[in-house]
Amino acid sequence: MIGKLNHVAIVVPDLAAASALYRNALGAAVTQPVPLPDHGVTTVFVELPNTKIELLHPLGEGSPVQKFLDGNPSGGMHHVCYEVEDIHAAIEHLVAEGARVLGDGKPRTGAHGLPVVFLHPKDFCGTLVELEEVAGARAASAG
Ligand code: CO
Repeated sequence: MIGKLNHVAIVVPDLAAASALYRNALGAAVTQPVPLPDHGVTTVFVELPNTKIELLHPLGEGSPVQKFLDGNPSGGMHHVCYEVEDIHAAIEHLVAEGARVLGDGKPRTGAHGLPVVFLHPKDFCGTLVELEEVAGARAASAG
């Protein structure tokens, strides 16, 4: 069902420092920060040849990543995002398999303007999993 690894998200205490680290020490292409107030985060994308790294920093009150940062002051891996071709079919399948979809269980618009859902980390080996609907996800992963 899942296709490509779309991104790995890392929560960072200092977005400018993390961007510079990826740009200078690791020599990666790094985007400008993009504030996403609806999600309570500011994101920077690190573009790799086969996937992306999403650097996340809390934005505003009650950011979902603030608690994570409180528990992990130097930052840490937050979630992995897999592409799916049909997010509604994926949700139906996962619920039938006993997995829990976070929130109201319905897709919302994610960082790339595409529908996403998050799956309960306790159901996936202690890792928060994001699914993103990408047209042709399966065809692309097979190619
Ligand atoms: Co993500």
